[in-house]
Amino acid sequence: MEVLTVELGARSYPIHIGSGILQSMDVLLAHFAQPKVAVVTNETVAPLLLKAFARRLREKGCQVVEIVLPDGEQFKDWQTLNRIFDALIEHSCERKTTLVALGGGVVGDMAGFAAACFQRGAPLIQIPTTLLAQVDSSVGGKTAINHPSGKNMIGAFHQPQLVLIDPETLRSLPDRELRAGLAEVIKYGLIRDLPFLEWLEGNIEKLLAKEPDALEQAIHRSCRNKAEVVAADEREHGERALLNLGHTFGHAIEAGLGYGRWLHGEAVAAGTMMAVELSRILGWLDAGDVARAEALFARAALPVSGPAMGADRYLELMQHDKKVQNGRLRLVLLRRIGQAVVSEDASLAQIRAAIAARSADG
Ligand code: NAD
Ligand code: GLY
Repeated sequence: MEVLTVELGARSYPIHIGSGILQSMDVLLAHFAQPKVAVVTNETVAPLLLKAFARRLREKGCQVVEIVLPDGEQFKDWQTLNRIFDALIEHSCERKTTLVALGGGVVGDMAGFAAACFQRGAPLIQIPTTLLAQVDSSVGGKTAINHPSGKNMIGAFHQPQLVLIDPETLRSLPDRELRAGLAEVIKYGLIRDLPFLEWLEGNIEKLLAKEPDALEQAIHRSCRNKAEVVAADEREHGERALLNLGHTFGHAIEAGLGYGRWLHGEAVAAGTMMAVELSRILGWLDAGDVARAEALFARAALPVSGPAMGADRYLELMQHDKKVQNGRLRLVLLRRIGQAVVSEDASLAQIRAAIAARSADG
């Protein structure tokens, strides 16, 4: 088992990574503030993991409230969030009742937001069960629900007490979901970790084949990158925005098509290629760099261009991005492969050209 720490002073917390660690309750129990815990999951993960997990907790003396949500990005909304509050109140949960998020990024973001709000802040433990959640969303304390016009528009920062990552949970993950997670893994290489990008170029097929050693290495390296960025800039005043490479375009794809049509990671892959294309238009990358990024996404069977929505619709949706300041779009672009920046340098015409080059509109 490996342990990383997200260094946030008094709110620092560990990330435990290891195959089979979900079987052992010791680490978890040490982080519970009281015997009553509320496990939030969804109807897909529940039959796979919840029953055995809740049984092990009960055997250790915990009172377990099980909260099973419908599955899907389209349920990352007020109505479904309210089901968590209803269950917490119905079962007389208290401010010290730990909420445990057992699932992918949707469950993690919703349980996290519920924990941020319930009685003005309850403890939270993240047990991510998708690759995307294990390499990204479970770490860093961002929690949110969607608004019909904008991804993750309503939310809060609420750091967990612990992140517990068991790569064995990925055995049942559908291939399409695994590939979507790889988009966020590749992101770390592109924005700040060139040696990791080179490692991915040599090992992407092993990851697609779910080779345990390769997966564990990729998860560890991704979490290390994320932990460093979050420790340096918890509330996204600067560096943390770089984690959003491709997300401004990608969120427009998700909202524009309707949540759930494209997976988040698929939209991020296509959005990243738009950001890469724009970086080439600005003269920061050359055609070889674009081909390099495209080749890696293509090997991971991820989209390298977005759907036809019309550049105007893309731009309209991109205006809801959380990085917009005084009405101006700020985009994460690449100065070079392995070095991202937040930039206002691109003109509207250049952004349109990048969208056209990397979407079915082009
Ligand atoms: P998801 O939560 O929808 O999970 C994907 C699918 O896999 C779902 O159908 C889920 O039920 C299923 N699943 C989960 N674990 C499984 C398992 N072990 N075996 C089989 N099936 C399993 O999607 P995701 O890709 O995990 O997360 C995407 C969400 O994360 C988006 O809403 C995105 O906005 C959010 N996100 C948040 C952050 C953050 O920092 N908070 C970062 C990145 C993404
Ligand atoms: N996934 C972006 C962030 O956590 O900041």
